[in-house]
Amino acid sequence: MTRIAIIGAGRIGQVHARAVLAHPQAELALVCDPFEANARSLAEAHGVAWCLDAAEVFASDDVDAVIIGSPTRFHVDHILAAVAAGKKVLCEKPVALELSEAERCLRELGENTDVMMGFNRRFDPTFSEIHHRVADGEIGDVQQLIVVSRDPAAPPAEYVAGSGGIFKDMTIHDFDMVRFFLGDIVEVVAIGTNVDEAIAAQGDFDQVIVTLKSAEGRMATIINSRTCSFGYDQRLEAFGSEGTLSADNLTATAVRKASGNQTEAKSRVMDFFLDRYVDAYRLELDAFLTAVADGSPMSPSVRDGYEALRLADAATISAHEGRIVSL
Ligand SMILES: NC(=O)c1ccc[n+]([C@@H]2O[C@H](COP(=O)([O-])OP(=O)(O)OC[C@H]3O[C@@H](n4cnc5c(N)ncnc54)[C@H](O)[C@@H]3O)[C@@H](O)[C@H]2O)c1
Repeated sequence: MTRIAIIGAGRIGQVHARAVLAHPQAELALVCDPFEANARSLAEAHGVAWCLDAAEVFASDDVDAVIIGSPTRFHVDHILAAVAAGKKVLCEKPVALELSEAERCLRELGENTDVMMGFNRRFDPTFSEIHHRVADGEIGDVQQLIVVSRDPAAPPAEYVAGSGGIFKDMTIHDFDMVRFFLGDIVEVVAIGTNVDEAIAAQGDFDQVIVTLKSAEGRMATIINSRTCSFGYDQRLEAFGSEGTLSADNLTATAVRKASGNQTEAKSRVMDFFLDRYVDAYRLELDAFLTAVADGSPMSPSVRDGYEALRLADAATISAHEGRIVSL
């Protein structure tokens, strides 16, 4: 049984708490959040202890592992303090807001491999099936990848302000997926625009398109929007020399309707990450607990987090300076 503390009891902290509570090899031992109302409401809902200061988590003998769901600017300090205290770590994306912080994390971790990055989409059953089938050679050599990721609604302004911008906060998942499929990236071109005035006022984009070229000459396109009228739009297509493998949006049931003005109509797509990726978070936790139990290196690693952040920086430069960025 792995005793887990959750640091940060916000949106993603609550998602992880549900996954931990449902897992037979995990126990939710402690919830930490400096905002007492947040710590209390998550902890007391499940009858577990809570605290306000992360130092208490790291000092606790009742905690084997921590899940870090604090705002991004705290991730590196929380990772390093947890590892120094001998805890295993599952940390949310992105690893940091600044590349220099991610470099510090890598440097101070050295050979330590006890930290897993929360790139949950790698564990999504649909996307991981495509990944396995690509790896098995089912569509020959992969030549192009298309990743579509649109959120149903923009996050609150205060979240956007601390998020590091769309490339680091949102596209980071897709940068990781592109690396997962195509390996290292050598060229990045990005453009961005706004349909959301509140986000524009913060100097951030809310719609972006990024094109990337891998070291092996394969290409990927990522399409992101902070808003989408029909829900959480999560699709992927791998195009290879022998065919394509693609995944459409998931709906709650497989029921389809035909009528006078519709054919093949399904119910709404799943609303947001809590529903769409519930299996991914469960399988991510499962992979984490397996690595905790057998002591194997965590994957995706902090190096993966660093590389995705490097792509976010390159995309930011490309979109603002209107040029191809070579890595
Ligand atoms: N993998 C995913 O699908 C996914 C989804 C959403 C968010 N995230 C990531 O999770 C992190 C949190 O995002 P969120 O949407 O849950 O934000 P949120 O604002 O809903 O929650 C953050 C929580 O952290 C708490 N907090 C603030 N300072 C803290 C500190 N010093 N120590 C501990 N807790 C602190 C806040 O009180 C709040 O309860 C971000 O890094 C974000 O990028 C990942």
